[in-house]
Amino acid sequence: MLKALLLENVHPLSVEILAANGVEVVTRSGALDEQELIEALKGVHLLGIRSKTQVTAKVLESAKDLVAIGAFCIGTNQIDLKSAALQGVAVFNAPFSNTRSVVELAIGEIISLTRRLTERDKALHNGIWDKTAEGSHEVRGKTLGIIGYGNIGTQLSVLAENLGMSVVFYDTAEKLALGNAQRLTSMDELLKVSDIVTIHVDGRPGNAGLFGESEFSKMKPGAIFLNLSRGFVMDNSALRSAILSGHISGAAVDVFPVEPKKRGDQFESELRGLPNVILTPHVGGSTLEAQESIGEFVANKMKDYIRTGTTTLSVNLPNLALESTTGITRIAFLHRNTPGVLAAVNNTLAAFGTNIEGQLLATRGEIGYVVTDTDSSVDIEALEALKSMDQYIRIRVMPPAAPKN
Ligand SMILES: NC(=O)c1ccc[n+]([C@@H]2O[C@H](COP(=O)([O-])OP(=O)(O)OC[C@H]3O[C@@H](n4cnc5c(N)ncnc54)[C@H](O)[C@@H]3O)[C@@H](O)[C@H]2O)c1
Repeated sequence: MLKALLLENVHPLSVEILAANGVEVVTRSGALDEQELIEALKGVHLLGIRSKTQVTAKVLESAKDLVAIGAFCIGTNQIDLKSAALQGVAVFNAPFSNTRSVVELAIGEIISLTRRLTERDKALHNGIWDKTAEGSHEVRGKTLGIIGYGNIGTQLSVLAENLGMSVVFYDTAEKLALGNAQRLTSMDELLKVSDIVTIHVDGRPGNAGLFGESEFSKMKPGAIFLNLSRGFVMDNSALRSAILSGHISGAAVDVFPVEPKKRGDQFESELRGLPNVILTPHVGGSTLEAQESIGEFVANKMKDYIRTGTTTLSVNLPNLALESTTGITRIAFLHRNTPGVLAAVNNTLAAFGTNIEGQLLATRGEIGYVVTDTDSSVDIEALEALKSMDQYIRIRVMPPAAPKN
């Protein structure tokens, strides 16, 4: 029976999904340090973590039974992905499960800032009846400029149009414009026409310092600015100056170049205390719905991998989308990607009289993944012969034991 160890309070839905697929699941609320993890992984096939557990090369080398790791979060920096691949351990994460939450926060902030809600709210809490239309606008008819038209940017585009906004976007990649959104060919063009500018680019190193004094100066006077992407893409001092000069009439920032490590820690930033500026502690994707959605997504990826060998969206193995294994025996062979492996696998299988029904190969850098379906059972000696190949990393034969119910 396969065993899973789920750490860091991953959503209970993931336990349900794995258990329903015949996996024995053990959960622990906290993270484990390196030595504790090495001990805990003995006899464990599936590991579930969030951002705090570090899965180092040393952990992976000692975790001989480990087949897959689920990162129940977006980032995978906490896992040595290369070592995992070389040990034949698939890593999955949840790249889009919290994107809707980010979009909803952005929409809420766009309306809050255009109505100067933070100021009205603060005044009233201080006992001042500040009833005025000064500086307050509807979002209907305003132009929203989206920089980075990916998972988040595109969803925001659709919702913003439904609020009656005009959407323009700029993306370095070719992107299909949804609805009536208009693609612009430069960021400058976008800054010139947008009443609200929102950044949703990814965290590639080249995006460091993407938005600074020069970009703020190109925005329309009185425009609004949002950054819910990565802290290092914008210059906080430049935003502070733009707000204090009145050139930018409001801003919402969810991500910072340096963020405190844990809840309750002190937060320092030049953006604190500015008028009509909403600061949130990197909670764009932090909703209970997103947690559930992450739990479901990652657990299903792990389940599919153990049942069918599917590696779709794995962050470290070649991606192969595979059908279910009903009526066939599947041999999934992870290997070092060198010329001639496929021929060698097939020669070995032929030598043991294995009839190949179907076969797929994918490679990713140093790693190759060949999946062979056969209508017969597989000779144990054929598997031993495959294991003795120089390029061998791991072999799995599916289907695994049938589910309990
Ligand atoms: N605040 C939060 O809690 C939170 C939660 C989830 C994601 N995020 C962040 O939001 C950002 C967007 O996430 P996503 O899932 O939409 O990413 P994505 O990869 O789907 O989309 C990013 C888009 O930005 C484009 N891009 C990259 N560099 C660009 C540039 N310099 N100019 C214009 N376009 C550029 C890419 O081509 C891509 O289309 C990421 O940085 C992610 O880390 C934040």
